[in-house]
This record gives sequence, structure tokens and C-alpha cells, in this order.
Amino acid sequence: MASPKEETLAELARELAACTACHLRGDCLAPVGWFGAADSPLVIVAEGPGGVEDAYGCPLIGPSGQLLDKALWSVGITRDRILTTNVIKCRPRGNRTPTLEEADFCAKRFLFRELACLQPKVIVALGNVALHYLLGPEARISRARGSWFQTYQGFATIATYHPSYLLRLSGQAQIAAKWDVFHDLEAAKAKALEACPDYVFKSERPYPFFEHFSRRRE
Ligand code: URA
Repeated sequence: MASPKEETLAELARELAACTACHLRGDCLAPVGWFGAADSPLVIVAEGPGGVEDAYGCPLIGPSGQLLDKALWSVGITRDRILTTNVIKCRPRGNRTPTLEEADFCAKRFLFRELACLQPKVIVALGNVALHYLLGPEARISRARGSWFQTYQGFATIATYHPSYLLRLSGQAQIAAKWDVFHDLEAAKAKALEACPDYVFKSERPYPFFEHFSRRRE
């Protein structure tokens, strides 16, 4: 039987699927919602769907998501045991970064309500767009990375680099940034475990997204 949280999320998902509230809807196949365990004490908030996510209807399953999964695995987390979501639900044309106005409009309709329903113990904000929405438009990932803050809704949040940033780096800079992300994820898990000591963060194997999701349209 679905829990009250799952029922609320299912209702939000129906609303999201039918959403035509802004111009971004016309440029993507369909909105992309969230994925994972509604009862998880840890939620990851990223930017918005890219091409692979738009095609498959699942957040963070393209190259960035695959790198994130490796980083999560290294700290003992699989994606099915946490919940991952985005600030913005529709892929902007050409994969451009959404504007603050677009992000704010979408987040008020969905992300804000998802988080109110989920009541996570810990949020990981991936990259600048998530940080801008969760902390404030002046925040910069270069300064905030690795530090904790409270969101407007009162959720403990740690900022870390977005995996797409890691993919753009190379050499020593990439290695150093990957270690930063490793330590941030480790800190996020430790804090979530303080609140929920018995929570199991890791399944036996990484979640096989491409066995469960298929292309929405060829
Ligand atoms: N895919 C997502 O779902 N979110 C991002 O921020 C990047 C890629």
C-alpha cells in the first residue's frame, strides 16, 4: 500500500505530467520528475533534465547522472535508496542553463512542494542552479561548496559541484574536484545517518536505470 507521502508525490507527478504553465514545456518531450525512495532522509537536487533525461523521463541518467552514481557508490549509496530531483522539470531548448525566473517559477510549482512533502533530513545541492534556488541568487558554488546552510524551508543542505562541471575538468583539477564531491557526499550521508541511524543507503548493485526506463519517443 502506498504511504501518504507516496500518494502526495503520485498526485504531484500527475500534475507535473499535465503541466503547460510555461514556455519550456513546448521545447521538451515531457516534464521529468523525480526518482527514488520517498522515505529517504537524503535528497539530491540538481539543475534540470538534459537530452538523455528528456528522452527517458528520469532525472540524472545521462553522463552527469552516471558520474554521480559512481560517486554515490563510492560512499555507499545507490540511487534507488535516495531521491533525486531537479529545480526545473522541462529541458530548456539546446540544454541552456535555465534563467533564475524560469527556475523560480518551476520550483515554486513543484520542487518546493516535493520537499515539503518529503521532509528530507539532508539535501545535497548539486551546482549553481540548485544553490541559487535553495540558498539565494547571490550564492556561488565556488564559495559555498562543502558548507552547510538551511534552505528557506529549513532543510539542512550541503552544496557540492555538479557532475557536469567535473566532466568539463581534466587532470589534477578534475581529481581534486572529485575528491571534494566525495567528501561532501560522505558528510551528507553521515548527517542523514545521525537522524536515521538504521536507514540502508546501499542496495546490492547500482540501480539499472536502462533496464527500467525506455525512450519516451524515438
Ligand atoms: N540531468 C539532470 O537530471 N539534472 C541535471 O542537473 C543534469 C543532468
